[in-house]
Amino acid sequence: MEQTISITAQAHRKVTDTKSLPFGKVATEHMFIAHYRNGQWQDAQITPFQDLVLSPMALCLHYGQTVFEGMKAFRMEDGRVNIFRVEKHFDRFNKSLARMCMPAVPHSLFVDALRNLVSLDADWVPTDADGSLYIRPFMIATEARIGVKVADEYMFMIVCSPAFQYYTQPLRIKVETDYVRAADGGTGEAKCGGNYGGAFYPTALAREQGFDQVLWTDGKTHEYIEESGTMNAMFCIDGTLITPARSGSILDGVTRDSLMAIARDKGIPVEERPIKYRELVEALQAGKRVEAFGAGTAAVVAPIATIWVDGQDYTCYTGSDALMYRLRNWLLDIRKGIAPDVHGWNYIVA
Ligand code: COI
Repeated sequence: MEQTISITAQAHRKVTDTKSLPFGKVATEHMFIAHYRNGQWQDAQITPFQDLVLSPMALCLHYGQTVFEGMKAFRMEDGRVNIFRVEKHFDRFNKSLARMCMPAVPHSLFVDALRNLVSLDADWVPTDADGSLYIRPFMIATEARIGVKVADEYMFMIVCSPAFQYYTQPLRIKVETDYVRAADGGTGEAKCGGNYGGAFYPTALAREQGFDQVLWTDGKTHEYIEESGTMNAMFCIDGTLITPARSGSILDGVTRDSLMAIARDKGIPVEERPIKYRELVEALQAGKRVEAFGAGTAAVVAPIATIWVDGQDYTCYTGSDALMYRLRNWLLDIRKGIAPDVHGWNYIVA
């Protein structure tokens, strides 16, 4: 059933300097909220940003039925605002929801909510070259019940926050072979809250040891690279873009997908395949030019300067002519409307 979104806009608050704030610290003025009850989405609203009323018995607080997306809106060179890759995010959101036994969001509700919210808060989309508006659609199970069950009631919400560079320095990362992010048959491909909560402890240990992030390996053999922190892992070895193939335990990253598409457009060889961390070490030892980076909506392209394996640091190439920077700039040019949007990725909203 089509949902009408009621909009209660508040008097416009002046957007102050958001660049100096940490990622995700400040919300824009409005938010979207809809409720799922009796098998239907209802009461879709855009309201002033506010706290939620939630029962302490809400199922999401106990058994982890929570799913989210991370999207971005960009200020284009001509002043218009677009939301990047709405369709890909919509598909991934619903795939994650299905994996977590949560109700699908109809396409029109997802797109109308995004369009209305981002155009209402368009003044919050930064004009700086490294700025964007981070958009966080998410769903939580709200039914009040301590019994372990799939919830019957949910909230689907969207909040937004101005975003700048997520990592300001190239990273030092550790190949993680004790802990795993995801196992075969688990929820690794879903963007559910538990995947992130479960990663905190190994990441905190790595930080204590002087690393910025971990490079996750597969749960069975600990030989194959999966992801890096909260990003997809990507490499350029002697000019070929290589990324671990999706295996069910790796997130279907939108930035990962976009960078591969751009590389193919530019005639750069792309390999999506299983990759052992030993292969990286061997390439580095053989004197090949190895670039390593994390790719994600929040981080975009996060260069990795050093990879630690078995007690030894290996240095990756981070020179200013690195392919990863060219890929990042080509992506940015499309988002900013500087380069043609040949794939139809930009959804113009304001
Ligand atoms: C993103 O890159 O959008 C993410 O979801 C990663 C992190 C901010 C949780």
